[in-house]
Amino acid sequence: MRVLTGFQPSGKLHIGNYFGAMKPALALQEDHEVFLFIANYHAQTTVKDGDALRAYTREVALDFLACGLDPARTVFYRQSDVPEVHELAWLLSVVCPMGLLERAHSFKDKTARGVDAHHALFSYPVLMAADILCVNADIVPVGKDQKQHLEIARDLAGKFNRTYGKEVFHLPDPMIRDAVAIVPGVDGQKMSKSYGNTIELFGSVKKIRKTIMKVVTDSTPLEDPKDPDTCNVFALYKLFASEEEQAELAARYRAGGMGYGEAKKALADKTEEVFGPFRERRAELEQKPDEVDAVLEEGAARARAAVEPVLNAARDAVGL
Ligand code: ADP
Ligand code: TRP
Repeated sequence: MRVLTGFQPSGKLHIGNYFGAMKPALALQEDHEVFLFIANYHAQTTVKDGDALRAYTREVALDFLACGLDPARTVFYRQSDVPEVHELAWLLSVVCPMGLLERAHSFKDKTARGVDAHHALFSYPVLMAADILCVNADIVPVGKDQKQHLEIARDLAGKFNRTYGKEVFHLPDPMIRDAVAIVPGVDGQKMSKSYGNTIELFGSVKKIRKTIMKVVTDSTPLEDPKDPDTCNVFALYKLFASEEEQAELAARYRAGGMGYGEAKKALADKTEEVFGPFRERRAELEQKPDEVDAVLEEGAARARAAVEPVLNAARDAVGL
């Protein structure tokens, strides 16, 4: 089973991204053939500053390698190092009805919010389909917001095969990441860059502690019993702690006599225990840009080798 997924480099990652998307993607390398790429062509639809795009792309590479991506197992590459994907996007555009793209929620939402409706935003799902189909991926793990893009990829694969009478592509299956609970931000809403309520994955220890101290709680007095199940601090603690640690802290909530400040301290300590080693590894990698480049280039070479036979079959089918 070949798994493929892409991450847009569009800013600093937060712990919601880590638990909601990165950790599950990294877990797949244990028992699947995984292709994981940095979707820098896609990020161009929002990032219109070359230096920023380059910097974000590097950040995502460092983030994944620091968090345990094993380049010997996962084929890890920058989308732009496999430019063949654009040729396939064209071959798919030819069989893509306008209506299919006009119905795409993400395009409709973005234009409704006043984002400039340029062609790349409109054809975004075709490029995404090409990412997936160019390696004939079987499974594509994505967040719920990408479900429709996966349906478009399946539609285009089927349409291409029917139009040219050849089974060039097989239909990829989505693996929708809704198993992981939504990680709350410091204000209790879903943690999201756009709400400004995030705890950064690789912020400084001091900054992370300070942010954790701001997590909203109710005003139950220190001496009273508290309900862990409705507390944002506890919801975050659960992401990091073992079952026993969770049970222990929950018992302290229920017993009373513990203030929220103490629970926050336990959360901050746990965060550091888990992310501290990642932060160290990231700092080491930052000093070795050549090593990171070499990983990405090797990944691109492996990805291109997988793309070549598929693209050749597609070119052959259409008569190029
Ligand atoms: P943001 O909302 O901060 O802009 P993105 O939309 O870029 O985050 O999300 C990237 C990935 O991280 C998506 O796959 C999404 O499902 C996951 N993710 C983002 N925020 C959370 C969260 N609070 N809880 C769980 N997963 C999340
Ligand atoms: N559109 C995806 C997102 O914003 C990123 C992406 C681009 C992707 N190409 C992909 C994800 C191919 C999975 C497969 O999250």
